[in-house]
Amino acid sequence: MNMTADTFQRSCEHWSDSGRAEMEAFYELARVDYRYLAEAYSWTNWFNQRRDSALRLADIACGSGKFPEALLEFAGLDRLDDLNVRYDLLDPSEFSVREARQVLRAPFEAGEEFVCTLQDWKYAAGAYDIAWATHALYCVPAEELPVGLERMFRALQPSGLGFVAQGLRDGHYVAFYDVFRETFQAGGGTPYSDGSQVELALRELGAAVKSRVLNYTTVVPAKRKALLESYLQRCAFDDTVSLERMLTTEPLASYLAASYRQDRDEYHFRQRVGLSLFAHSDAGLTLRDREDEFTA
Ligand SMILES: C[S@@+](CC[C@H](N)C(=O)[O-])C[C@H]1O[C@@H](n2cnc3c(N)ncnc32)[C@H](O)[C@@H]1O
Repeated sequence: MNMTADTFQRSCEHWSDSGRAEMEAFYELARVDYRYLAEAYSWTNWFNQRRDSALRLADIACGSGKFPEALLEFAGLDRLDDLNVRYDLLDPSEFSVREARQVLRAPFEAGEEFVCTLQDWKYAAGAYDIAWATHALYCVPAEELPVGLERMFRALQPSGLGFVAQGLRDGHYVAFYDVFRETFQAGGGTPYSDGSQVELALRELGAAVKSRVLNYTTVVPAKRKALLESYLQRCAFDDTVSLERMLTTEPLASYLAASYRQDRDEYHFRQRVGLSLFAHSDAGLTLRDREDEFTA
């Protein structure tokens, strides 16, 4: 795949049928990212409180649907199968839309499909009860986040809820790509945007926002070299750089050496993920049940 292409274009090349094997290797490690998101908020209670009406949901940058899969498996949403949630999918990759559609089951019902970027979305203003983008907006350049997030925000009904989960600059996903670009692209190319930039853009739009940080570690046994290589290549959307080169070219070599735990013969990648709930007013962020606080 083309290493000279910039971040968004390489993302599109990897979110494709030819990128499937690499994607599957990546999710051997990254599937749990979505379990943490499914367990980070009282999703069941939120949906339960709206069960008297049909709901419309937008999954922005839907990828292969790991978040709805985790909600069904770990958050108990599968038990709300008498709910009716029309689930719209948006992604510039037709492959992603196709993959995500296949995981949908009750209470989610496949709805409209938008094969486009968030920035180009011809959204229906005020149409959605809920819209989320989970580990999804890294390839939206920081300067385009305000335009993209405004679309998500305006697409919400007055009582609607938005949710974005995205790695922070000092967590592995974003930090690794910063060092990778410094090492192999002389610092050029478009950096991933991060969760703080998302939060700031939401606040500047005038949204009511509630944020927290999720901390956890992705562990890769050092002996599993092929897995480690595919995982890191996927983190950078660049399969032209071998693990060997990553381990021996500075400054990435030092980043990887610092992540290596000799006592366990494992790589430990520290993840820090910014979670932001947003709405048109503070009331839109409040669940009736006090146990449902969205806290760290
Ligand atoms: C890691 S996946 C998202 C995972 C997904 N939320 C899930 O539940 O599995 C990232 C997705 O973002 C999409 N993407 C990249 N740039 C985008 C943009 N500007 N607007 C919308 N989607 C974008 C990619 O095509 C890819 O499918």
